[in-house]
Parts: sequence; C-alpha cells; structure tokens
Amino acid sequence: MSWMKPLIDRILKDQFLDWNGLHGLSHWGRVYENGMRLCDESAANRHVVELFAFFHDSRRFNDGTDPDHGERGGEYAKKLRGELFELNDDEFELLYVACRDHTKGMTEADITIQTCWDSDRLDLGRVGITPAVNRLCTAAAKTKSIRNRANDRVCERVGSLFRISQSRICGDAQPKKTPDPFHRTTLFTEIVDDTRTCSDFG
Ligand SMILES: [Fe+2]
Repeated sequence: MSWMKPLIDRILKDQFLDWNGLHGLSHWGRVYENGMRLCDESAANRHVVELFAFFHDSRRFNDGTDPDHGERGGEYAKKLRGELFELNDDEFELLYVACRDHTKGMTEADITIQTCWDSDRLDLGRVGITPAVNRLCTAAAKTKSIRNRANDRVCERVGSLFRISQSRICGDAQPKKTPDPFHRTTLFTEIVDDTRTCSDFG
C-alpha cells in the first residue's frame, strides 16, 4: 500500500474541485470499498480497480454535467503512470477505458472494466438514485447483499471515518472507537488521513 498515499496526495493537490464534494474523497473511498468487495467475487484485476477509484472523477471541472471528465481522468492517469503507480500496458488500457467510458451507461466490457463501473454505480445512492440492477454489469454487484451494503454506506463521510486517525494525529485523549468492521475502508482512510492535517477536517 506504500504507493497509495503519495498518489492520493498528488491527485488531491491537482484536482479542480473541493475534495470534500460530491465527487471527492468520500466518494472515492466508497468506490474503493465497493470495488474491493466486488474483486473478492470475480477475477477482476484488483490494482486496476483500486486505481479507478482515485482517477475516474479526479479531473472533473464541476459536480454537474461534465461529459469529458472520464477521458481527462484517463489522460491524467497516463501522466502519473511510472511516477506514482505501475501497470503494464494491458492493465493500463483497462484503467484508461474504464475511466473514459464510466459515464456512458455501458454494461458490456472486460470483467475488470465492469467491476470499475459497478463500484462507481453502487455509490449512486449518495445523490438519491438507487442503481437499477439491469444497469449494473457484474453478477456480484447485482446481489442484494452487495447493493444493500453499498446503499447503507452512501452517507459515510471521510471526515467521520477518519476519527481514529485524527485522534492519533491531534493527540486527542478520546477513547478509541470500536474498530471499523469494514477494514478496507479503515485502511484506506488511515492512509489518506496521513496526507491531511487536523484543520482539514473542521
Ligand atoms: Fe464516480
């Protein structure tokens, strides 16, 4: 996971939008969590799915209609490849296409690309949309348990998820929270949290 912290730090530094917004860090964290759960159920390339979570909305100009943001995300990933993460050519092509086409409503693609798209669509509940089963791509994402789990988490914010790490960084004497059962989310947020300061969570 040593690659993740510097990569996220760079993406946050370069992005145009408020990292706390609709398509910001909390969304990326939930997409990451969704993607990892889907990878447990298929042969999708886990690293591509991880990277998709951070890149797919990273070059949005706004939180509304921005049809080319997926392609810009893919191009941005091209720029950082080799510097902040490694993928071979075939893997990078999957990441690029997943980013470029993620808002086109497609369902047919390589299983890794499908898993990327589903990991994003499963977080549509944050804007009041329940993802229709026939708009999802993978068998795993269509299961009730995965959809319910994703829906239950759409309001989770990075700020609240970061409480444990904030206490550590701030020297706060608060008792430790019960460990988050969603261990991957905790791992993700702790890594991200290290790139921020306490004042960022106000
Ligand atoms: Fe997204």
